[in-house]
Amino acid sequence: MGSLEGKVAIVTGAGQGIGRGIATAMAKEGASIAVVDLNAEAAAGTAGEIERLGAAAIPLTCDIRDSAAVGAAVAAVVERFGTVDILVNNAMAARVGVPLEEITDEDLELAFRTGPMASTYFMRACFPHLKGGGRVINLRSGSEIQGLVGYAAYVSAKAAVGGLTRTAAREWGAHDITVNAICPFALSEGAKSYFDSRPDELDAALSGLSLRRTGDAEADIGRAAVFLAGPDASFITGCSIMVDGGGSFLG
Ligand SMILES: NC(=O)c1ccc[n+]([C@@H]2O[C@H](COP(=O)([O-])OP(=O)(O)OC[C@H]3O[C@@H](n4cnc5c(N)ncnc54)[C@H](O)[C@@H]3O)[C@@H](O)[C@H]2O)c1
Repeated sequence: MGSLEGKVAIVTGAGQGIGRGIATAMAKEGASIAVVDLNAEAAAGTAGEIERLGAAAIPLTCDIRDSAAVGAAVAAVVERFGTVDILVNNAMAARVGVPLEEITDEDLELAFRTGPMASTYFMRACFPHLKGGGRVINLRSGSEIQGLVGYAAYVSAKAAVGGLTRTAAREWGAHDITVNAICPFALSEGAKSYFDSRPDELDAALSGLSLRRTGDAEADIGRAAVFLAGPDASFITGCSIMVDGGGSFLG
C-alpha cells in the first residue's frame, strides 16, 4: 500500500514541470490528484498520465490569480473526491532577468498574485477540509536566500510565501495541519525555456550546486513532497526543505 493511499491532493501548476513531477509521485503512492493549471491541455495531459498509472485524477483549468476561480476549483475537488487532504501550492509565474529599476507594476502583480496571494486563496478555501491531519506544501526558492540578481519581484514574492508558511504553521498547528515548503531546483519546462537563451547562466547555476546535477521533477522534488505529505512527516511544520542539490543552505 502506498504512503498516500486514500488521500486527495490538489497540485497547482501540475500541467508541467515540478508540479507534474509532484503530482505523479503522489499518484504512485496512491493519492487521487486534482491537476490545476491555467493551460487546459497540459492539465488534461497530466491527469491522463495519472490515470494510466492507475490513480484517479481530475484536470481543472483555473487561473489561480482569481480567488473566485480558486474557490470554484476547490469546490469541484470536494464534489468529486469528498475532501482535500494535501494542498501543494506549486504554480507561479514571473518575469525574471529584469534589473530592479526596470520592474513594472505588471511584473509585481504577476509575481505576487500567482505566488503568495494565490497560495493564500487556496489555503483559505481548503482550510475546512484540511482540519484534522491535512498537509500544505508551498514552493519557495533558493533564489530568495541568495538574493539572486534580476529576480527582485520573484524573490520578494517567494519571501512572502516563506512568511505565509511560517504563520500558517503556527496558526494551523492547533488543527493538526502541517505547513511546510520546498525550495527546488529542476530543469522544468519553465526553467528550460529561461536557460535556453542564457546557457552561461545554466553553467553558472550548475557549478554552484554541491551535487553538480539538476534535480528530477518527480524522483527528487516529487519524492520530497511525498515525504512531507506522508505519515513520516507528521511532526514537521513551518520548515523549508532545500531540494536543490546543495545550491543554497538555510541556516
Ligand atoms: N524549476 C526550478 O528549478 C525552480 C527553482 C526554484 C523554485 N521553483 C518554483 O517551483 C514551482 C514550479 O516551477 P516550474 O519550474 O516547474 O514552473 P513551470 O514554469 O515549468 O510550470 C509552471 C506551471 O504553472 C502554471 N501556471 C502559471 N501561471 C498560472 C496561473 N495563473 N494559474 C494556474 N496555473 C498557472 C503553468 O501553466 C505551468 O504549467 C514554482 O513555484 C517555481 O517558482 C522552481
